[in-house]
Amino acid sequence: MSGRDKLDDRLTEHVDRLGDEHPPIDLDSVDYSMDQPGVIARRFGPVLSYMARVELEVERNVLELAALLPNPPEVDRHFYADVWMPQETRHGEILDKLQAIIGLDPLKADLTQVSIRLRLLGALGRFGPVQDVSRMLYYLTGMATERSAVLAYGQLHTGLREMDERAISETVIAPIRRQEPGHFAFYQMSSRGLWVQLSGWQKWLVRSLRRLTFTPVGVDHKRQRADFGRVMEALGMSTQDSDVVHHAQQIARVEHELLWASRKGLRAPTYVVDALRLAVEAAKAEADAVARKLPRPRLSPEA
Ligand SMILES: [Fe+2]
Ligand SMILES: [Fe+2]
Repeated sequence: MSGRDKLDDRLTEHVDRLGDEHPPIDLDSVDYSMDQPGVIARRFGPVLSYMARVELEVERNVLELAALLPNPPEVDRHFYADVWMPQETRHGEILDKLQAIIGLDPLKADLTQVSIRLRLLGALGRFGPVQDVSRMLYYLTGMATERSAVLAYGQLHTGLREMDERAISETVIAPIRRQEPGHFAFYQMSSRGLWVQLSGWQKWLVRSLRRLTFTPVGVDHKRQRADFGRVMEALGMSTQDSDVVHHAQQIARVEHELLWASRKGLRAPTYVVDALRLAVEAAKAEADAVARKLPRPRLSPEA
């Protein structure tokens, strides 16, 4: 049995187990009762509405995947169609209801628009070796996304427990948080397995495209960059620059190890650190403008 076959077997086993052990969260198990909804909204509103949007946008992510990987390996299709999408869609539904109950304005979710960049990569991907490059980028994005989710839900869970909001910490956030590490593990196993099979030019292309296209989870334009900065602020991840660097190291540990291990320096890809710094700066600029009663910087989706 080849290394690729063995990896496929391990991945299939992992995906089957995730499906068996983690069905989509039962809506009847969720208890939205809260003692201080207003305080939760003020303290964690930016995080809840951001995560609700990102989870709901899974619907679009599936369209993106179809464009990006016209011929995915069966185990990838099994993962995203049978396990990942049903779980994440339910996370979105639950968080969306929670944000409505506490009176947050929902952030606009984009459920349909697949970027030209992804369509182009998908078209090039009809040439098999390029599809492996696209697939590697997909795994890297998946790892950073899932780690970001685990960290955000971990902080939210701690914060809500400190406020003694047991119902939502234990029946909303804890069950969602429990389902994210299995997604991360899938991408991690897949990326490690694929990286060693790539040739020199494929690795070069992965590094180059990743450096050019990295954005934090859920950031497709400037407006969302400031939103993400506010999430970092609400979670206490942006008080000092060292917190930002630490966060970058946490979300891109495996990526750094695979793509950039030989580099000295921050132990995180510089493009990840830079993207997080930009998000923090965008949120601060917006907060300053509000404090000085200036018009908010124009951050339209087209910006
Ligand atoms: Fe999720
Ligand atoms: Fe996830």
